Amino acid sequence: MPKAIIAPSILSADFARLAEETRAVDAAGGDWIHLDVMDGHFVPNITFGPPVVKALRPHSRKFFDVHLMIAPADPYLAAFAEAGADGITVHVEAGPHSHRSLQTIRGLGKRAGIALNPGTPAAMVEPLLDLVDMVLVMTVNPGFGGQSFIGSALETVARVKAMCAGRAIDIQVDGGVDADTVGRAAAAGANVFVAGNAVFKDGPDRYAERIAAIRAGA
Ligand code: DX5
Ligand code: ZN
Repeated sequence: MPKAIIAPSILSADFARLAEETRAVDAAGGDWIHLDVMDGHFVPNITFGPPVVKALRPHSRKFFDVHLMIAPADPYLAAFAEAGADGITVHVEAGPHSHRSLQTIRGLGKRAGIALNPGTPAAMVEPLLDLVDMVLVMTVNPGFGGQSFIGSALETVARVKAMCAGRAIDIQVDGGVDADTVGRAAAAGANVFVAGNAVFKDGPDRYAERIAAIRAGA
């Protein structure tokens, strides 16, 4: 079985100390750094854009996993790539031209991901599988950290896993992932686990312990 990838989401970090927080989850054993970009339009919350990704880039060499919860996404893809994203994920619900977005991301030399909200059927991404390196199945409705895991999304994970048979495509889950829920997500077929609240909730002294507990449960 491939090694689980744990991706702490800095959405749950102290935004006044984002560089330190990024260094801290890197040092605590996070495999990727997950960066949640929200526009107050596609999702009901606003976070940050390319300048913040760029400012954090010198603070970690780990894979910068940029999750775009924005519509439209296309006008900003190059800016996120230049800011230091290693992978860029767009939502299939964010616009009518996912194909174009994914081709653009790959054209920029980055890993391309496609994300599905919990209410979106797995079949929506089937025609796109030749263009993606990762499918992100949301296990909460995107917009906020600290929400409860939506178990029914695991059926989507299992369907995506079956669709991806024989292809080198990562399957990521994001939302409500903790040491308890991660095992069910892994059993359904996920191998990349985003965790915000479960990593950050008790402060920096416990980041390593929290990441290790999620890894142990996967
Ligand atoms: C939700 C974001 C997530 C969020 C997860 O809209 O995409 O990445 O940070 O946070 P937790 O792990 O707290 O549910
Ligand atoms: Zn996310």
